[in-house]
Amino acid sequence: MKTSFKQYLENQQKKIDKTLREILPPLNIFPEKLHEAMHYPLFAGGKRLRPILMTASCDAVGGESDRYLPVACAIELIHTYSLVHDDLPSMDNDDYRRGQLTAHKKFGEAVAILAGDALLTEAFYIMASFSDDPALFCRMIEALSLAAGSRGMVGGQVFDLALEGKEEVTADMLEKLHRHKTGALMTASVSIGAMAGKATEQQFESLRVYGQKTGLAFQVTDDILDIEGNQAELGKSVGKDRAALKKTFPDVIGLGEAKKLQKALIESALESLVLFDDRADPLREIARYCIERRK
Ligand code: IPE
Ligand code: IPE
Ligand code: MG
Ligand code: MG
Ligand code: MG
Repeated sequence: MKTSFKQYLENQQKKIDKTLREILPPLNIFPEKLHEAMHYPLFAGGKRLRPILMTASCDAVGGESDRYLPVACAIELIHTYSLVHDDLPSMDNDDYRRGQLTAHKKFGEAVAILAGDALLTEAFYIMASFSDDPALFCRMIEALSLAAGSRGMVGGQVFDLALEGKEEVTADMLEKLHRHKTGALMTASVSIGAMAGKATEQQFESLRVYGQKTGLAFQVTDDILDIEGNQAELGKSVGKDRAALKKTFPDVIGLGEAKKLQKALIESALESLVLFDDRADPLREIARYCIERRK
């Protein structure tokens, strides 16, 4: 990773973390236990990739992303809630996340479920309360809620469970799964950034394609890291997909083909940005990072 890009990621992560601390309910207000259980998974060192995709997309079309940091944070709250629920015993039953015990291991299942509920709800409170342009915020909320709900991420999570233990899983089924459970929120992050930056229709469409390709590549990488990664770097357990009889791209098309697919997806993500100038360079770097990452 180029030093300048590493610096860029760190700067954006800092801005997002600072804004999250400013806008989230503080630990010392009622109900303290719930607020603690919301802060715990959130401030444990996530990559902040979705909010960074949002701000980078806004900047790529000449927008002022710093004005929309609360929106970027709302996206991260939804992502974090999805991880808390994804790790529950009734879902992936994971003990580690972001380098620490999962929320249900730390606070018990009931509080973890409720903390997830509260993170999700808080996201929309933030979107509404920071709205200074009702038409724009309404469009952003529409995109975010559609991507997070049954037609997007939650739908993908249900499909993930439905495929568990199934032998006859095809690459098309996996693509559909990944598009929903991971691609939808990542694509929405890019689209929401484009809206905030007042993208033209053509720019918006190119960015949407970029988000779709990058989002799919990101989850293919997640599948590969479950085989090739290690817990210390990833901050979460490895080997869980096979243990849970979840078929992934490496199982269905082979590890070599899965790596070719990653590269092809990133090539087409980059291609979709051909008409953009150097303000889209962070998006280009993020696309590469999505498949080169070790965490
Ligand atoms: C993990 O997402 C869950 C997936 C959708 C693969 P990330 O890899 O972005 O996790 P954090 O936010 O950095 O912890
Ligand atoms: C998670 O997919 C997708 C969502 C949380 C929506 P995974 O179950 O593969 O993510 P990890 O590997 O636990 O991070
Ligand atoms: Mg899962
Ligand atoms: Mg999981
Ligand atoms: Mg995974």
